[in-house]
Amino acid sequence: MSSATTGAALNAPPMRRSPQQPHPSVFDTRITRLFGILHPILCGGLMWLSDASYVAGIVNAGGMGFITSRSFATLEAFRAELKACDALAGGRPFGVNLSTSRHTEVRLADYLAVSLEMGVRFFETSGRAPADDLIRAIHTAGGAVIHKVPLVRHALTAERLGVDAVAIVGMECGGHPGANTEVPAMLGGAIAAERLRIPFAIGGGIGTGRQLLAALAVGADAVVMGTRFIAAEEVTAHEAYKQRVVAADERASVIAFAENPALGGAWRVMDNATAREVRRREAAGLRGFDDFSDLIRGTQLLDRCYREGNPEAGMISMGPGACFVERIEPIADIVGSIMSEAAAYRDRLRRIGSA
Ligand SMILES: Cc1cc2nc3c(=O)[nH]c(=O)nc-3n(C[C@H](O)[C@H](O)[C@H](O)COP(=O)(O)O)c2cc1C
Repeated sequence: MSSATTGAALNAPPMRRSPQQPHPSVFDTRITRLFGILHPILCGGLMWLSDASYVAGIVNAGGMGFITSRSFATLEAFRAELKACDALAGGRPFGVNLSTSRHTEVRLADYLAVSLEMGVRFFETSGRAPADDLIRAIHTAGGAVIHKVPLVRHALTAERLGVDAVAIVGMECGGHPGANTEVPAMLGGAIAAERLRIPFAIGGGIGTGRQLLAALAVGADAVVMGTRFIAAEEVTAHEAYKQRVVAADERASVIAFAENPALGGAWRVMDNATAREVRRREAAGLRGFDDFSDLIRGTQLLDRCYREGNPEAGMISMGPGACFVERIEPIADIVGSIMSEAAAYRDRLRRIGSA
């Protein structure tokens, strides 16, 4: 539970709104215009979790969400998920997350082709810099791509390659902060504001409206979030897992594999029995995939944690932003409370600014 949120005198009460009535727009930025969304809130791909239910919840609340293509073992299952999302979102545009890591390259072209054929026009790429032909295919179809990176120097490369926007995640982010275990989101954002020309979002540890306002103040056009939403009602996962997220504070995550790029590099996860065993083996000098495969297999996480509800099983991507998750609640309420808080803090700045 968050001690960080309770002291906020300006915290507005969460707003209950139906998906048909998202919180009114508060900010107009280059990224809200790029994606045609009400709020500068991007919810990045979540392996196994950002499915039709989740992504439709985000877009109905006025943000942009991305279905994680890699979660779907067959193109048929992926296509069915896109169709389901389109129906749940009432035709509102939504996005797809494409992993550009080496081992997924073969399927990347297929996931992209199916997405475009199904009318998806917004993409979040993560991993290696997106190839020219991927960017060209998206642009030819009239779409846009935001590439997620851990450091500003990667963002500059992506800008040169022609992406429409970048998301820069700090070392606080849940999941893979890539090569970045040193630079927090706000620092990366301040550097980005000086060096980038294209629109950018920052992410990592963001869970409140006051942080959203701070991100815009630092020069960003949006935030990218993950952890704040992983216990939302619309997330397809066991309640016991969600309650564990609710109980987490800002010290409840750890980084594993920071020194092991062959196993994917740094990975920020919930500090549970699996993560502790991984770190014990790392400390003992183990480095190969076989040394860890019983612990890090994705199905371990999917089957035992997300489906069966054992939060000790699997490497559970999560960041310190979990401290802002105080209950299991609908996505529209989370977005609504973030936006009303951001507006309240904007007004506070106006008041103290005139002194
Ligand atoms: C459970 C979980 C799974 C994630 N899976 C992916 C993924 O498959 N692809 C990806 O690009 N990012 C993934 N991320 C990163 C998020 O898209 C986002 O960048 C990150 O969560 C932002 O930091 P925050 O968690 O501190 O809000 C994941 C994050 C979480 C918490």
